[in-house]
Amino acid sequence: MDSMEKNKIFAAVLCAGIMAMLSGFIAGKLVHPHIPDEDAVPIEGVEVVAGGGPAKPQLPDPIMDLIAEADISKGEKLSKACAACHSFDQGGPHRVGPNLYGLVGGPKAHAGDFEYSVAMQNAGGAWGYEDLNFFLWKPKKYIEGTKMNYLGLKKPSDRAAMIAWLRQQGSSSFPLPSAGEIEAEKAALAPPEPEEPEAEESADASEAAPASDDAAETEAEAEPAAH
Ligand code: HEC
Repeated sequence: MDSMEKNKIFAAVLCAGIMAMLSGFIAGKLVHPHIPDEDAVPIEGVEVVAGGGPAKPQLPDPIMDLIAEADISKGEKLSKACAACHSFDQGGPHRVGPNLYGLVGGPKAHAGDFEYSVAMQNAGGAWGYEDLNFFLWKPKKYIEGTKMNYLGLKKPSDRAAMIAWLRQQGSSSFPLPSAGEIEAEKAALAPPEPEEPEAEESADASEAAPASDDAAETEAEAEPAAH
């Protein structure tokens, strides 16, 4: 009885073993597993590409050299885009944004009775040309947390025209940029060094001369124009 049981169990195990081997053999014949050498879908490691794509400019183009000669009527036209939120006349009302009369050269958050964002209150400094250039280029980049919901003026000539017109709204006593300020701004906002040193030299030489000429000329011209 005992050995019968053992034989039965042995037979069962043997049977199961043979079945398993057979089914493996048959399955292998029916299905030809083919493991490709390459992945069907390329799997790439997550590459960290600095910046991602062509580098976007991180700084606005300089505009100080454009302000004195800027098209003021164009600035006035551009101001229509601001007028939903700003008035520009003396004693004009605050809207979504503050009245901007006399803003150029004045302190940031210049209107004492307007509720500025904390970011604007803490910005510090004055609205000189450099700051306005940066702010109007990308308001939220220059003052992170500002509540001015405006994308910005991308074209340097538009920003120059806007600022030149803004200056005429109560800030004409604020001096136009001097030759020195123009050069300093250009240097501060210059793109990273180009590779060829020769190209750099010639560019410097050709830029420096006309820029200072312009400034001297326009400053002389601008005085009578200012009211
Ligand atoms: C959608 C409404 C809106 C538009 C459009 C808008 N602004 Fe503003 N602007 C604001 C608000 C709100 C503030 C106050 C920002 C803060 O407190 O952070 C502000 C602040 C400013 C300031 C700073 C004022 C100060 O006293 O320091 C300047 C300069 C300015 N805007 C210029 C402009 C110009 C120029 C345009 C048009 C090209 C324009 N804004 C378009 C809403 C707007």
